[in-house]
Formats: sequence, C-alpha cells, structure tokens
Amino acid sequence: MNILSWISLLRCICSTFGAYLYINIVFLSKLNNMQTKELHIFVYEYSTIWDLPEADQQLVFAAREAVRRAYAPYSGFYVGAALLLANGEVVSGNNQENAAYPTGLCAERVALSYAHSQYPDVAVKILAVSASNANGIINEPVKPCGSCRQVMMETEVRGKQLIRIILDGKKKIQVFEGVSNLLPFAFKPE
Ligand code: THU
Repeated sequence: MNILSWISLLRCICSTFGAYLYINIVFLSKLNNMQTKELHIFVYEYSTIWDLPEADQQLVFAAREAVRRAYAPYSGFYVGAALLLANGEVVSGNNQENAAYPTGLCAERVALSYAHSQYPDVAVKILAVSASNANGIINEPVKPCGSCRQVMMETEVRGKQLIRIILDGKKKIQVFEGVSNLLPFAFKPE
C-alpha cells in the first residue's frame, strides 16, 4: 500500500478528521522529498572609510561628492554612486526625482546607464554608493533597490568580471565582492 492508499484508509476511518490528516500527511511527504541548499553570502565590513584600500576610499569620496548634486526634493534622500571602469575612468551619478513619483531614477542606475552609454565596451570594476538625509550621511550602509541590483548583475555579466560594491554609511561600510552577494538567484538570460 502506498502513502495515498494509507491516507484514503485513514480518511474513511476518521471521516470527521479526514481533511485534517490528509493535509498534514501530504505536507510531510512533500517535506521528505525536499532538498535544502545552504547559500553563503559574504559581506566585508569596515568601521571607517580610512580602513579601506586607497582606491576604494577615492571612489567613496566620489560617491559622496555625487550625493551633493542629487535631485531629491520629494524624498529628501540624496544618493550618489561612483563607478571605477576598467579603463581607469570614474563615472558618477545621483538620484533624479520627479513630481510624477515613479518617473524618478536611482543613483546607481543613472551612473551605470551613463557609463554604458559612454563606454559600451568597458567593464565596471567597482561601484561605491553613498546617501544622506537631513542629518548628513546615513548611519547604516545604503542598500540598493532590487531594480538597481538587477542592472548591476547585467553589467557584471556583460563585463565578464566581478564588480566590487561598496556601500557607505556613517557607522560602517560594507563591501561585496560580486553582485550575487547582493542578488542571489538573479534573473539572467539563458
Ligand atoms: N534611491 C537611490 O537612488 N538608490 C538607492 O540605493 C536607494 C534609493 C533613491 C530613489 C529615490 O529618489 C530616493 O532614493 C528615495 O527612495
């Protein structure tokens, strides 16, 4: 007798509790067929900007500089992103908001799109992001939105090299070696 026959039998015997047993047993048998995979994501944390390698420090400064030019009159959340390209160029961008709210653009995508429009064949090596509100640079490292992570992934795949992502914050700075640490199970064209 297989498991389903046992369930049918149990349902006949205990018709009052049949549905309850059925639901629970099916759930358990699915659990038994399930595989668990453990995913490891690495985040390197630094207490201050001075603990970063010199090139990374420079890029965070460029991102902070870009924050100052952000256009964010609606949210009051000013974001800057700076990219170091494989040809040595530094490209920056910032969030560009609009009265028609969803029309606004994130700093990361402004910088990445600008870089790709100017240097279509050049890979991105490092991306630094910084943000400030009315109290200055935010305490916790700024977290890119899902759409920006997806664009970072496309940039990384196209450039055929991992992008180092540096997220600036007053209390700490986080560094990710490769976009999959920020976006596991990303959509990628086959
Ligand atoms: N924003 C960015 O530019 N990048 C991020 O990583 C997070 C959010 C912008 C979008 C919007 O202009 C404002 O921050 C508030 O959400």
